[in-house]
Amino acid sequence: MSRKAAGELKLFARTIVAFRGILPERAGWAIDSSQYRSGQRCSWTATELEGEWRVKLGIPRERREGERRVAATPETVKQLAGLGLEVLVETGAGTAAGHSDDAYAQAGARIVPGLDFGSLDILAHVRPLEPATAAALPRGAVTAGLASPSSELPAVRALAAAGVTSFALELVPRISRAQSMDALSSQALVAGYRCVLEAAMRLPRFFPLFMTAAGTIPPARVLVLGVGVAGLQAIGTAKRLGARVSANDIRPASADEVASMGGTFIKLDLETAEASGGYARELSADRGALQRQLLAPHVAQADVLITTAAVPGRRAPLLVTREMVQGMRPGSVVVDLAAESGGNVEGSVPGEDITVATADGQGTVTLVGMKDAASAMPADASRLYAKNVANLLALMVKDGALALDFGDEVVAGTCLTHDGDVRHPPTAEALAAAFPQAAAPAPAVHKTEQPTAQNEGVV
Ligand SMILES: NC(=O)c1ccc[n+]([C@@H]2O[C@H](COP(=O)([O-])OP(=O)(O)OC[C@H]3O[C@@H](n4cnc5c(N)ncnc54)[C@H](O)[C@@H]3O)[C@@H](O)[C@H]2O)c1
Repeated sequence: MSRKAAGELKLFARTIVAFRGILPERAGWAIDSSQYRSGQRCSWTATELEGEWRVKLGIPRERREGERRVAATPETVKQLAGLGLEVLVETGAGTAAGHSDDAYAQAGARIVPGLDFGSLDILAHVRPLEPATAAALPRGAVTAGLASPSSELPAVRALAAAGVTSFALELVPRISRAQSMDALSSQALVAGYRCVLEAAMRLPRFFPLFMTAAGTIPPARVLVLGVGVAGLQAIGTAKRLGARVSANDIRPASADEVASMGGTFIKLDLETAEASGGYARELSADRGALQRQLLAPHVAQADVLITTAAVPGRRAPLLVTREMVQGMRPGSVVVDLAAESGGNVEGSVPGEDITVATADGQGTVTLVGMKDAASAMPADASRLYAKNVANLLALMVKDGALALDFGDEVVAGTCLTHDGDVRHPPTAEALAAAFPQAAAPAPAVHKTEQPTAQNEGVV
């Protein structure tokens, strides 16, 4: 919508506001965005008829236990306000990430004690929304954030039923143009860094080589399994701490990537397994067993084992059995970054340290199940995440109004629900399977024309 059209609407709204005393209810004086849609390109909502005519973007305090990140920083508030949006930040939303209410206010946000979800045009968030929050949003509202569609089906269902246009950051296509919106990468970077620090704090010895008058201390040996964004960052961090690092992955490109970070690639007598888009393919059961068998001697030699392996749309592959952990030296540390998605290491529990007795009976290994790894570094994780969100929203806002262009592959590929439909086919199928007896008809499946490698799988 152009500024001129917005101006005309503003005039119209003022007239209504002048008569608000005789209007029955607030809901009665909301303007429905559907009147202003032109084809697929333009949708716009204005649920507040008083004050400035600006599209309202809400930034909530994250509700999930343990979540410390925030979906906007003062820096991105400036960027978003520059797009013509009115940014509402819930009191204390950025406190854990190091941003005071005053800093947001100075950046141009309005601080509110609690967001009125029913009055928002856009809601940006970190963790998946609760179904009740989705249901409270007005029809046509836009949400942008992590949605974990495969594990948060009730929320997806509520978003579709509410007619909300939701964008799941997990679905951002991994193309060059969308790199600045790729929250999976930005948060994996934080998680990969963090898990090395978690290991270093628990290891009863140094990472680097020390040659001192009192003797020489050899560097710790770190083994990284799964070398995507998080694994590469883990290699880089462990190298910077001075460890001797080796790594393995089943994608063919990973050998060069490991070398580029200064690690030693462990070549197994196992064929590579790559799916479209550069992602890994799930190994068959016997290939998986062979991989574990081939990895066992390397695991036994490591002081620190870090696992980050994942296959989109699948449970994390089991790379390390309990027996392999028992075969490590006393004092060794294992950090399973995939603990929340099924675990790469047998017996890992998200958020817990488990002590495993070594097979030689001489001591124990600490098995760390990582949980909310990126949230453990809320300042920088939020700084990157908020930029991802703001860059995505910048694609959807023109002249201060929402303008959704579903001809844009980033907009189309990232969209989870729109106009009552679930647009990510794997999620729609999972939803139909999870709620077969639902009284209400399941939301229709809107097939994206060309699914990207990423949105082919349930994420
Ligand atoms: N173009 C872009 O914008 C962009 C952005 C980020 C990542 N990427 C690429 O996407 C790919 C996936 O990266 P990611 O970090 O999302 O990965 P991911 O989180 O899906 O998986 C982590 C790693 O686990 C590995 N893995 C899976 N099964 C394994 C097994 N059995 N044994 C060992 N390793 C196993 C995968 O190959 C991957 O490297 C990589 O090729 C990465 O370079 C591209």
